[in-house]
Amino acid sequence: MTSSPDLASLYQLLAKEQRPILPSGERRAILGCGYVGEAVAKAWRQEGHELWGTTTRHERLANLAEIVDTPVVFDSTDPRSSLKFAGSLDGILASFAPSKASQVDVNQYRETFLGGLQMLAEALQQRPRQTPLQLVHLSSCGVYGNRHGALTDETVRVDSLHPVNEVLAMAEDMVQSLRSESVNVCILRLGGIYGPGRDIPAMLLSAAGSVVQRNGQNVPCWIHRDDIVRGVSFAFEHNLNDTYNLVNDTQYTGQELTDRLCEQAGLPLAKWLTTDTTDRVLNARVSNAKLKQLGFTLTQPSMVG
Ligand SMILES: NC(=O)c1ccc[n+]([C@@H]2O[C@H](COP(=O)([O-])OP(=O)(O)OC[C@H]3O[C@@H](n4cnc5c(N)ncnc54)[C@H](OP(=O)(O)O)[C@@H]3O)[C@@H](O)[C@H]2O)c1
Repeated sequence: MTSSPDLASLYQLLAKEQRPILPSGERRAILGCGYVGEAVAKAWRQEGHELWGTTTRHERLANLAEIVDTPVVFDSTDPRSSLKFAGSLDGILASFAPSKASQVDVNQYRETFLGGLQMLAEALQQRPRQTPLQLVHLSSCGVYGNRHGALTDETVRVDSLHPVNEVLAMAEDMVQSLRSESVNVCILRLGGIYGPGRDIPAMLLSAAGSVVQRNGQNVPCWIHRDDIVRGVSFAFEHNLNDTYNLVNDTQYTGQELTDRLCEQAGLPLAKWLTTDTTDRVLNARVSNAKLKQLGFTLTQPSMVG
């Protein structure tokens, strides 16, 4: 069957357009166009939405202009920054994170997350009350802390003993407080992110035959970037208004995961330490059942095989 001439010429027209904004498209922003934010921007652009995207760096604006319609400099630690543009949008993804320091610094976490969400709250106060908004905030399964490998779903109380987890939990609370009759708030707690350019399996394999200076008895959790993009889209399509773990199916300890990767590659096993070398530990078999029960599926359910 051939397309009707009208449809064919519409497709041609859309293909010529660099950023086709479809009539069905929404006005959406990605706060923090980093590793995940950029991938979401590309997917949303394909869906025909009009996009705003932020970076902290002026020098990234030109590059960002290739994937969003309106690139904006936004730095939550800079009081001159503003999210005023967010007042008129249909959807917002909060995917900013402190990315400047190589070490986790609790003050930087506090300033970045809490400062940024405060700015977002102020911008949203300017919105007409009845205007619908879907907000998705990317949090971390790190908030569960050390549960000694126990099965962990969203009903479990988060760890607020470690100061970093306390900040992440406060950030979740701030986002939740933005919920209203017209504002849906979805929190996606992510596992450690891997994907193109963040090749965690290759990194683990590079330890074959040597000693990894981390506790291999802890159970971390993982999620491929493609599945984060799909999870964010799923949240928007289903108007999600709750908290969900977004992790893959793997619930191996660090040692078990590297053993399987090494066996698969025919390499000697790596040894891991059996005691913690850091005070911030995630050790939990994090369940993704709640999101799956809604019909969400993973394209990368496991790092192995
Ligand atoms: N990485 C993980 O394994 C992991 C695990 C669980 C959850 N998460 C969460 O997943 C989300 C996405 O992570 P990602 O790996 O894509 O992060 P990323 O690549 O480090 O990108 C972070 C983005 O935030 C921006 N940013 C940094 N400091 C900022 C500030 N003070 N104010 C405003 N924006 C700021 C960065 O700006 P520039 O464009 O200038 O760099 C960048 O666009 C984050 O919310 C993170 O907390 C990540």
